[in-house]
Amino acid sequence: MPADKMPGGKNVLVQIEDGIAWVTLNRPEKRNCMSPALNDEMVEVLDALEIDDACKCLVLTGAGEAFSAGMDLREFFRATDGLPYTKQMRVRRSSATWQWHQLAHYMKPTIAMVNGWCFGGAFTPLISCDLAIAAEEANFGVSEINWGIIPGGQVTRSLVQAMSVRNAMYYTLTGETFNGKQAAAMGIVNEAVPKAKLKERTTELAKLLITKNPHALRACKEAIRATIGMPFEVSGDYLGAKSSQLRLVDDENGRNQGLTQFLDEKSYRPGLGAMRREKK
Ligand code: COA
Repeated sequence: MPADKMPGGKNVLVQIEDGIAWVTLNRPEKRNCMSPALNDEMVEVLDALEIDDACKCLVLTGAGEAFSAGMDLREFFRATDGLPYTKQMRVRRSSATWQWHQLAHYMKPTIAMVNGWCFGGAFTPLISCDLAIAAEEANFGVSEINWGIIPGGQVTRSLVQAMSVRNAMYYTLTGETFNGKQAAAMGIVNEAVPKAKLKERTTELAKLLITKNPHALRACKEAIRATIGMPFEVSGDYLGAKSSQLRLVDDENGRNQGLTQFLDEKSYRPGLGAMRREKK
């Protein structure tokens, strides 16, 4: 999509480089807290990038000192308190749409690059992204308890998926902050690196994902999320059907190419790296 047709540009910035779409929450003076206008813009940006061939991997980050300070207490909460129920629900819908529905089911791989403050509502998009890398210096907090509410949206549900129940309880009930290294130790992010190395390491990871067969990546993501709550009998059947579906939609015929390149050509080892990708 031509850059001038790409949605965003105000509360959300988009830059595409070498297949990586850098999506930046852009309210640095408000620590990138998520207002209804930002949420509406994110819905459009994610929608556009999902079908843009130039975007092969999406990185979500924040401008300035913050990843995101969570929901906008002024515009998302106070300003909508007196609105009729349907209007309140409309405001909540765009928030849930991008932070959870779109990101958690995104057809391309996604990485959250946590550059700084990450509070409350920001845990939903963080955990909805497939992978996450944080600056060691980043600060995380499930701060809702500090102003007398529960972590709503999908925050509580996301936390207990990414953390142990003990840790989710501890940080939700105390509101204590934790840094990037602690987030990595608890599994909230994949790894933490010094802030000076954050973009370099994120780029390296995104480039690695881009070398893989995109249909297989998508099927793997969907399979991981879908099987979380399934009994083994059901997941065995689901994964069989998913494998068959992948062979139908994969225009690279990756499975057969992989077998040929390993067994006949002996040109690569699947255990040690990705195969050569060719369109059929
Ligand atoms: N909602 C609305 N405004 C917010 C906000 C939020 N979640 N987070 C920050 N802001 C605004 C501040 O009100 C301030 O606005 P002002 O300049 O008009 O006064 C501006 O962003 C800068 O915030 P400030 O608190 O001065 O920055 P800081 O760097 O000293 O502290 C935080 C950063 C993130 C620790 C602090 O802003 C904070 O605690 N934010 C709320 C975090 C939270 O509980 N989020 C959960 C929401 S679900």
